[in-house]
Amino acid sequence: MVVCFISFLWYVVWICFFVLLFNRIIVLVFSMSSADIAVQVFRQLASEDFRVLNIIEVAMNTREFVPREQIQKYAKLSLDKIEFILNKLNKLGLTYYNKGAYVGYALNYTGYDCLAINALVRAGVISSFGQTIGVGKEADVYTALTSTEKTVAVKFHRLGRISFRQTRRKRGYLKENSAWLFQSHLAAKKEFQALHLACKNGVSVPAPIFHNRHTITMSIIEGGELSKWRKITHPNCVLKEILRNIKKTYLKANIVHGDLSEYNIILKPDMHILIIDWPQYVSTDHPNTIELLHRDIQNVLTFFNRRFDVKLDFQIARDYVIGKIRKVDV
Ligand SMILES: Nc1ncnc2c1ncn2[C@@H]1O[C@H](COP(=O)(O)OP(=O)(O)O)[C@@H](O)[C@H]1O
Ligand SMILES: [Mg+2]
Repeated sequence: MVVCFISFLWYVVWICFFVLLFNRIIVLVFSMSSADIAVQVFRQLASEDFRVLNIIEVAMNTREFVPREQIQKYAKLSLDKIEFILNKLNKLGLTYYNKGAYVGYALNYTGYDCLAINALVRAGVISSFGQTIGVGKEADVYTALTSTEKTVAVKFHRLGRISFRQTRRKRGYLKENSAWLFQSHLAAKKEFQALHLACKNGVSVPAPIFHNRHTITMSIIEGGELSKWRKITHPNCVLKEILRNIKKTYLKANIVHGDLSEYNIILKPDMHILIIDWPQYVSTDHPNTIELLHRDIQNVLTFFNRRFDVKLDFQIARDYVIGKIRKVDV
C-alpha cells in the first residue's frame, strides 16, 4: 500500500516537472523576438532558400499571398525542390502559408529579418550578431560585429508590432502583414536619411553606416536614455546642449525630430547627449513643422522642470532655437 502511494507521488512529481518544463519552453520561444529567431536560423539557410524568400518578397509588392507556381517559375527549380524549400521555410517560421481563398505564401517579419541580415553580411557590413540592447515600441536594436571587429548597432524597425499581437491572437494571421513590412522599410529609410542630414550638420546623433530593408546599422552608443537618469551634476548644462542640438537640427539640417522626449535622448557617461529615433522627422517646409518643433521643445522643458527642477521659459527656449536670440541662460 505504502509502496503504491510513494510511486503514485513520484508519478505526480514527474508530471508536474514536465508541465513546468514545457511551460518554460513555451514562454522562452514566445518571448524571443523575430530577430532572435532570424539570427539563429540564418546559418541554416542555403542560397536557394534566400532565392525563394527573395521571390516571395518581390511578388508581395503586387499580391498578398504568392502561389507556389509563381515561385517555381522565377526560382527555376523543380517542383519537388520548391516544395522542400517552402516546407523548410514554413517550419522555421520565415513564411506563412495561407490556405483560404487565396492560396499562397507570405513573408513573416522573421523571413524579412533573414533577408536583411543576409544583405548586411554579403555587403561586408557585419560578420556576426550579438545581444539585444534595446526593445522599443516599434524596434529591436542589436549589437553586431563588423568584419574589422568593431561593435555597431543594428536597428530592426517593427511597425505594427502592437496591433500585430492583438490581431494574431484573434485571427492567426495578419492581413496587414505586407503593408507593415513595407511601412517598416520606409521608416528605416527615413530614419537613415535623417541621421545623415543631422550628422552632416553637426547634430549629435549615432553615425549612420548602412541601410537595408527595415534595418539601419549605426555606430553604437554608450549611456542611457535621459529618462533613466535620476541625478545629474549639472542638469542645466545638459539642457543647454539639448537646445543647441535642436537649434542645429532646425536651422542647419532644416529638419525637426518630431518625437523628442527623455526617451529619445541618450546621456553618455561623459555627460554629453545624443538624439536617437528619427523615423518620424519632418523637413522645415512641412506644414506641421512649427507645431512639432514647439512640442519637442516643450517635452524637454517639462522633463527638466519635473525631474531636475530646472526652469526655463518656453518663449526664451523657442526664440533661441529659431535663432531670434543668440544665447540662453539656464
Ligand atoms: N545606436 C544605438 N546604440 C545603442 N543602443 C541604441 C542605439 N539606438 C537605439 N538604442 C537603444 O534601443 C532603444 C530603442 O531605440 P529607438 O531608436 O528609440 O527605437 P523605438 O522606436 O523602439 O523607441 C533605445 O532607447 C536605446 O536604448
Ligand atoms: Mg525611442
